[in-house]
Amino acid sequence: MQKIGVLTSGGDAPGMNACIRAVVRSAVQKGAEVIGIRRGYSGLFSGDCIKLNRRAVANIIQRGGTILESSRCEELKTVEGRKKAIEFLKQQDIEGVVVIGGDGSFRGAAAMAEESDLKFLGVPATIDNDVYGTDYTIGFDTAINTALEAIDRIRDTADAFERVFFVEVMGRLSGFIALEVGIAGGAEEIIVPEKETDLEKLCSTLREGFRKGKRSSIVVVAEGNEVEHTMQMAHYVQHRLKVSSRVCILGHLQRGGSPTARDRVLATRLGIAATDGILNGKHGHVVGERNGKLVYIPFRDTWEKKKELDKFSLESCKMLAG
Ligand code: F6P
Repeated sequence: MQKIGVLTSGGDAPGMNACIRAVVRSAVQKGAEVIGIRRGYSGLFSGDCIKLNRRAVANIIQRGGTILESSRCEELKTVEGRKKAIEFLKQQDIEGVVVIGGDGSFRGAAAMAEESDLKFLGVPATIDNDVYGTDYTIGFDTAINTALEAIDRIRDTADAFERVFFVEVMGRLSGFIALEVGIAGGAEEIIVPEKETDLEKLCSTLREGFRKGKRSSIVVVAEGNEVEHTMQMAHYVQHRLKVSSRVCILGHLQRGGSPTARDRVLATRLGIAATDGILNGKHGHVVGERNGKLVYIPFRDTWEKKKELDKFSLESCKMLAG
């Protein structure tokens, strides 16, 4: 393969730039040409792409976001849309594409692969860490450290006022961010979409904490939880416990910022592996890492199989909360 494309798609994640850099420089090293497709799959419809050489990716390893920009592309969900995208790639003589994103992005790649002879390899990048088959996704480590820093600050003010703080973190369909941030931040409770939450039980845990002399409590809530809106939850607890409660929604704050060393290393390793793979004819998979070893996960597994949350860790935070 002489010419490959690279794109970032879905929610941006810190470390995507480090991955683009690794793809470009390792491909160029092997004599291949790399075309950066801009704004995710949308660039295939508007012809928005750019040739990337070694210099084009200088000084980006430390930058959050993605120099190629991203999108959630609706056109790719239709057969006609994919036909257009395939035609564009063929016109450009691009034979394979490295897709950096989450499971939605891999679905698009798999569909285009089925409808053409183009080759696609994926690299898992999403702060949610919810891609099946890989221990970690690019961006997760940075996001949890950003959220943790916020929680540590919130603890200071929560303590000063004897309050319950509900801190909402990202994770539309999964509680990986909430779990790790909750454990590392010493939260009293962690509320995730993967487990039912009983608000009455939550109230009694918090009440018990105050009875034992706690000054403050922090409840970490994943945005995708099924219980109730975080605001309503906080209201309910305030009413039942007669203790002041506050809500802090961290939102997109968690998506920005310079990637941690761990994310840069993961992005670099996976970027190189994906480039090696695609130049050597490997396709239809996501390149991930399990127990420190590179693995290839079939595209389909990433949306058909669910990555499990460690339920034991979820319970342990309650046991340790003072
Ligand atoms: O990329 C994953 C994610 O950050 C989710 O945690 C969040 O629900 C979603 O993206 C937000 O998407 P958008 O930026 O499109 O509002």
